Amino acid sequence: MNLANRLKVIKPSPTLALNAKAKALAAQGVDVVSLAAGEPDFDTPDFIKQAAIEALRQGFTKYTPTAGIPELREAVCAKLERDNRLTFAPDQVVVSVGAKQAIYNAFQALLNEGDEVIILAPYWVSYTEMVTLAGGKPVVVETREENGFAPDPDAIRRALTPRTKALVLNSPSNPSGAVFSRAALEGIAEAVRGHDCLLLSDDIYEKLLYEGQFLNIGNVAPDLVPRLLVINGMSKAFSMTGWRMGYAAGPKWLIAGMQMIQDQSTSNAPSFSQKAAVAALNGPRDFFVPMVEEYRGRRDMVVDALNKLEGVHCRRPEGAFYVLPNVRGLFGRTYKGTPLTGSMQLSDILLNDFRVAAMPGAPFGVEGYIRMSFATSREQLRKGLDRFKELVTSLR
Ligand SMILES: Cc1ncc(COP(=O)(O)O)c(C=O)c1O
Repeated sequence: MNLANRLKVIKPSPTLALNAKAKALAAQGVDVVSLAAGEPDFDTPDFIKQAAIEALRQGFTKYTPTAGIPELREAVCAKLERDNRLTFAPDQVVVSVGAKQAIYNAFQALLNEGDEVIILAPYWVSYTEMVTLAGGKPVVVETREENGFAPDPDAIRRALTPRTKALVLNSPSNPSGAVFSRAALEGIAEAVRGHDCLLLSDDIYEKLLYEGQFLNIGNVAPDLVPRLLVINGMSKAFSMTGWRMGYAAGPKWLIAGMQMIQDQSTSNAPSFSQKAAVAALNGPRDFFVPMVEEYRGRRDMVVDALNKLEGVHCRRPEGAFYVLPNVRGLFGRTYKGTPLTGSMQLSDILLNDFRVAAMPGAPFGVEGYIRMSFATSREQLRKGLDRFKELVTSLR
């Protein structure tokens, strides 16, 4: 017996693998600082937990409609209207097991063999693999640190072909933390206007914003809303990673297709998580303010510390909870007699010899960088930064 051929074309998730390795070391009693996870260290707000507890008490523990309970689909529409000035009807919404499943379903529902999907690098590691798994072809368009990792409309224009079925946008971005400006989004809109492709906008880090304004491409180009698929979820803004609550809002035909995939795979997302999500979306927002301030403080602390290291340069991200220091200046130096040549090697040394888990840039499509998450306590961050400094100063 052997595995299906489709597994030969995708790579395992490097983020999950590195996290698992860090956790295994911690379980052996090793004092590991993990800067690898894409997970808030804040607890889920209590009023959200209470809603789930209440749902459980009332026996709300059964199957629900695949696309989600009507009150949640309505709450999603209200949220999109209120926060994003985007109008969708409940039958244009599907609730999934995390934003991850929503994106997966979208590619499964949309792509035929060989269809192309434009993905801007640096990118979240799962986009390329999900596209490949659906038989599609990821077409990577690079963005540059010098331009704040802003998308280049001309590069997008050059990448468009008759086979382009979708363009993925992720702002604030994982891993760069870049937030796309109005001008950048207008440029993208202009580039794709004559081309019939879906715009998949992954807005999961929307609320983690330290600079500027959050805009969805639908805000600057209302004419493109009919082919816009908005992806969002509860994981990052509401610190609800374990609840597995994500959603998509978009064209009815695509939402219906995504629901069909979900009908035949997982059915509905957990019933009581849906009740919690209703409470979260309709509830108070005051907790965002201290949370975002804390993330901002950590961001500044980490960026300032990294920029003091010779050979390291770190851009101050406008959103999300990652920094992406440029470590090219360290390449060519030697560690224990061996020349340092890449981010994978650096990340390995960092974990094995300095007990810090940080993601190499290579799997995100940016060699020469590493990604560190600041969704962990300042104490852990300080410890992690001290250890990284030890590594940098030990290079010859
Ligand atoms: C850019 C991006 N999109 C989507 C997700 C998926 O989030 P979830 O499935 O927890 O909603 C993540 C998680 O790390 C992410 O970084």
